[in-house]
Amino acid sequence: MATALITGSARRLGKYFALMFAEAGYNIALHCNSSVEEAEETAKDIRVNYGVKCELFSQDLNKAALLPHLVESVLDTFPDLNVLVNNASVFGQGTLMQTDEALFDLQMGVNLKAPFFLTKAFAKVVKNGSVCNILDTYISTNVYQHTAYLMAKKALAGFTGTAARELGPNIRVNGVAPGLILPSNEEEVELFRVISKKLPLQNIGQPEDVAKAVLFLTESSYITGQVIHVDGGRHLL
Ligand SMILES: NC(=O)c1ccc[n+]([C@@H]2O[C@H](COP(=O)([O-])OP(=O)(O)OC[C@H]3O[C@@H](n4cnc5c(N)ncnc54)[C@H](OP(=O)(O)O)[C@@H]3O)[C@@H](O)[C@H]2O)c1
Repeated sequence: MATALITGSARRLGKYFALMFAEAGYNIALHCNSSVEEAEETAKDIRVNYGVKCELFSQDLNKAALLPHLVESVLDTFPDLNVLVNNASVFGQGTLMQTDEALFDLQMGVNLKAPFFLTKAFAKVVKNGSVCNILDTYISTNVYQHTAYLMAKKALAGFTGTAARELGPNIRVNGVAPGLILPSNEEEVELFRVISKKLPLQNIGQPEDVAKAVLFLTESSYITGQVIHVDGGRHLL
């Protein structure tokens, strides 16, 4: 058997990852922070519909000292842990001139520091495994409306390469960079619709498109250090 720890998987994109991994036969270590009720619903869905094991692990990933503890708790429940998907994220809005230290620290803490130290803790205890970092297609641009968020994602993309070199041959590290998939608010719904018309594939993507890429990289035993853009061609513009 195999177990996937997927951070931030109670709802939205992380939930789709958890469902697709469960369908593929993985036990699921379902991490959440504040969405405990939704996490319980997702876990129930997984157990009933896919017949694999699913347990909840609730933790604030902005507390770096506790990150090894999360991996240890998962390992106590699932000794066959071999997949980590670093999905949890905070999409903080703010240009350089609007970003204060608290916003900067939160963006770096959840979007970069947490995946960095979770990967370290994972690689310490897992003999053969795969890490997938969820990035953002905007890493190939210099849009500046979410500057600290984007800086963290760019650094996480860089980390994907350095970690892939350091942790081979036992641990593979890859990334998936989604484009327009799930809007965060009503304003973004219309924005996604307008921007998507300018993409080569002229459409918004589905969560399953991203989940398929994450599962593909996880199961591709001769691929490491790769980033797949699931973005309708946005990175080409
Ligand atoms: N949505 C898109 O179209 C899109 C586009 C490009 C890239 N992405 C990337 O794809 C991933 C998933 O996107 P999404 O929109 O589904 O993400 P999201 O809803 O913004 O966040 C996912 C989860 O992250 C968790 N999280 C936030 N702060 C946390 C903290 N301090 N500690 C622990 N967990 C925390 C939350 O868990 P709780 O709810 O339990 O608090 C949340 O449900 C992200 O990495 C995002 O950057 C998404």
